Amino acid sequence: MTTAAIQTAVAQDGPPDPELVRIRDLVYQVAGIFHPDNKLRLLLDRCGRRMKELKTQSLREYFECLTIKPMRQAELVALLNEITIGETCFFRNQPQLDALRQVVIPKILEAKSKLPLRRLRIWSAGCSTGEEPYTLSMLLLEEAHSRLKDWNIEILATDLNERSLAHAKNAIYGTYSTRNLTPYFRQKYFTPAGEQLQVQPVVRNSINFSRLNLSDDGRMTFMKGLDVVFCCNVLIYFDLVSKRRVIQHFYNNLLPHGYLFLGHSESLYGVSDDFRLVHLPGATAYIKGERTQAGK
Ligand SMILES: C[S@@+](CC[C@H](N)C(=O)[O-])C[C@H]1O[C@@H](n2cnc3c(N)ncnc32)[C@H](O)[C@@H]1O
Repeated sequence: MTTAAIQTAVAQDGPPDPELVRIRDLVYQVAGIFHPDNKLRLLLDRCGRRMKELKTQSLREYFECLTIKPMRQAELVALLNEITIGETCFFRNQPQLDALRQVVIPKILEAKSKLPLRRLRIWSAGCSTGEEPYTLSMLLLEEAHSRLKDWNIEILATDLNERSLAHAKNAIYGTYSTRNLTPYFRQKYFTPAGEQLQVQPVVRNSINFSRLNLSDDGRMTFMKGLDVVFCCNVLIYFDLVSKRRVIQHFYNNLLPHGYLFLGHSESLYGVSDDFRLVHLPGATAYIKGERTQAGK
């Protein structure tokens, strides 16, 4: 797609190209990701990449690739791979991680102390290239000989972007991703891989990576029995309606004592009344409505 064609498709003074609007609506329906008018240029740029690859000449032709069998499913996945933004790093939000380790995990263990099954189930929803679930795994390993002795740890890590998931499974990271690692964690849990660092198997063993679309109500219904959900810096791309749907699934899937963590700048204000905000040292989280505040 040429620069002139991009200018025409998202001209400032006229309505956007109707084919681009149809693609926007399709992406929204499938993944809950909404591109307002001022982000249409970004969507168009991503479609342009795919159109170049497919050698399609017009948005109309490309829309057909996204909607007509046999290629529609594969092309939708390919477009979503281009659209989703996977900015992340290890130990992205230290106060949140400290709160998890010092307050939330002990509270959950207390709530589960009378149960015969010693299992902790944590979900990193929108895990991008894996830094978040690997960080969680390392933190829990630090407790493996004390608080979490004899506990079975299961970390589910899901994302829509299959390229990100392939990177996550490969577990090799450069300096940008690893910039927050302390020498302690770097030496204990990573092995040099050329100029980069690879996460050691002991950290990888407790994590189950899979592709999951948070807007897929059918699949979301099965993510049951969770103690903690991390859904950080994901819902910023969703509009209110799709945010509400996802949050309702988290509510249904979390155990009664469960915790939901969002990104630093995100909140459920105006999104859900079912969860209650709790203030932890240096961070906030959400618990299910009828609970009393953590730490009080
Ligand atoms: C900015 S990254 C956040 C990564 C990590 N949670 C963090 O905070 O560092 C956002 C991730 O959300 C994923 N995402 C966006 N829409 C999604 C959807 N509908 N279902 C699943 N994942 C989605 C993207 O693919 C991307 O990897």
